[in-house]
Amino acid sequence: MTIQWFPGHMTRAKRQIQDKLKLIDVTIELLDARIPMSSRNPIVDEILGGKPRLIVLNKSDLADAKVTEQWITYFKGEGHECIAVDSSTGTRVNEVPVKAKELLQEKIDRQIAKGINPRAVRGLIVGIPNVGKSTLINRLAGRNIALTGDRPGVTKGQQWIKAGKDMELLDTPGILWPKFEDELVGYRLAMTGAIREQVLNIEDIAFFALKELVDRYWNSVKERFELTIEQPDTNESDEIVKVMEEIGRKRGCLQSGARVDLEKVSGIILRELRAGKFGHISLEAPWKQNS
Ligand code: G4P
Repeated sequence: MTIQWFPGHMTRAKRQIQDKLKLIDVTIELLDARIPMSSRNPIVDEILGGKPRLIVLNKSDLADAKVTEQWITYFKGEGHECIAVDSSTGTRVNEVPVKAKELLQEKIDRQIAKGINPRAVRGLIVGIPNVGKSTLINRLAGRNIALTGDRPGVTKGQQWIKAGKDMELLDTPGILWPKFEDELVGYRLAMTGAIREQVLNIEDIAFFALKELVDRYWNSVKERFELTIEQPDTNESDEIVKVMEEIGRKRGCLQSGARVDLEKVSGIILRELRAGKFGHISLEAPWKQNS
């Protein structure tokens, strides 16, 4: 889905989510485990307010498990419950309703003490495009649900989807916008596939991705492409281009005159990164958020 986030759209998205908050008990904020900060909406606390919140780090199958654990500790320190899941296979997805219910346990206990039979916990999934909202909803529902886009007057025709015996979800997730004003964030979103390549130049995205990979996961890159080159200095653009060229030669991306086709190389780097071919990669860690 491609959304152009003009200020009017942001205001509307915010209002639509805030309308839905009136109907629910708990928000489920979905982030990409590889880039929890870059996949986070810049004003999420303002939008979601004080509702109990479960932060779900999705796509954890692609992230570095040790770093994901550190993120869980970090978000718990912010006062939220946090778990990591893989919605594509369903790994740990069944913990979502359990944790959501735990967040409301005191209220539920009070109701039971008063003789009231508590109803299912009502939740709303929110997150930026492509973070995996539909995939998670389908997993939780145990079937494929044709998710409709938001309509005006959202609180009218809303449907509840059963997610196990103790939870119900609103059928339309809340769609939030990412932080685009920061160039680094833009590149991280593009390299993980959260924003489409057309927005930025593919060679620039791949260059940026390779720079990050060389910096943090050089051995994986070297092994994957069977490189003979020494680890480059990531402050030197020429050295990164040399790595791209060697990848091109290894993978047969040559143009006439044996020139390396950098656009083709870029496509390979990004495809393989998104498919997890370099192993489990986390591009952001809680102690090092802006580099
Ligand atoms: P959205 O509703 O938030 O916009 O996201 P959506 O569920 O459409 O998911 C976006 C992409 O992320 C999909 O891939 C989906 O399969 C993938 N995805 C979602 N959750 C996970 C996860 O936990 N792990 C991994 N590895 N991938 C996940 P796609 O390539 O756009 O579509 P498709 O090829 O799967 O159909």
